[in-house]
Amino acid sequence: MKRIVILTGAGMSVESGLGTFRGGGGLWDNYPVEQVATPEGYAANPALVLEFYNKRRRELLTVEPNEGHKLVASLEKQFSVTVVTQNVDDLHERAGSTHVIHLHGELMKACSSREPQNPDYVCTLQSPAADLKLGDIAADGSQLRPFIVWFGEAVPKMEDAIDALAGIDVFVIIGTSLNVYPAAGLLNYVPSGIPVFLIDPNEVHAARRDVITIKKGASEGMRTLIDEYFNKME
Ligand code: OAD
Repeated sequence: MKRIVILTGAGMSVESGLGTFRGGGGLWDNYPVEQVATPEGYAANPALVLEFYNKRRRELLTVEPNEGHKLVASLEKQFSVTVVTQNVDDLHERAGSTHVIHLHGELMKACSSREPQNPDYVCTLQSPAADLKLGDIAADGSQLRPFIVWFGEAVPKMEDAIDALAGIDVFVIIGTSLNVYPAAGLLNYVPSGIPVFLIDPNEVHAARRDVITIKKGASEGMRTLIDEYFNKME
């Protein structure tokens, strides 16, 4: 079975109604990154940070996977697929993808403030009581915090993502500005000579010359990729 790795970013979930981070009206225009997405911001005002992610989690609970997510999941009928996502939403899983690596954490999970990456202290949040409050305690006794990789923190899942690239046949990028490292650097680990597709309605600078660009939104772009490429693959 041929193997595909798909790297996704915020643009993947735009058609579900979730916003992107950069560009006009992006999330980082309205909320200073240093306040809500760094360990220092959390130390300075944990209540503000918990509320920022509570809002995003409540929003996530009102939206559904879009056709793009579903088409990505449908590829599993034909191929061995690993989704490597920078998104903290669970829309790939809800659409049916079974192998998803979350580089930047998961909104529907919480973890220890002391040891954020210790799996023993990671727990899943359930709707409707999915808000995190000051005083909610992780299994190690520390404040529960969102299971999100903040700027300045290590990205331990990068190793799994790099491992997933060994021996792949196709690499696909959907809806990411490729601004954030180390995630964007994954492209450098893609074996040379294999096709790399990039689906995005806007211009994205990919640090490789052989990228085949499909300048469309996630759903339409996935339809094009399937019709014009995957359905014709041997
Ligand atoms: P960005 O907001 O940087 O980029 C979103 C991309 O989605 C842009 O290239 C848009 O052109 C594209 N886009 C917009 N609408 C689209 C559509 N309908 N279909 C497909 N693409 C569309 O988001 P990311 O690259 O995901 O990290 O950002 C990476 C990381 O930066 C995030 O994971 C987050 C953020 O800070 C953390 O919070 C740690």
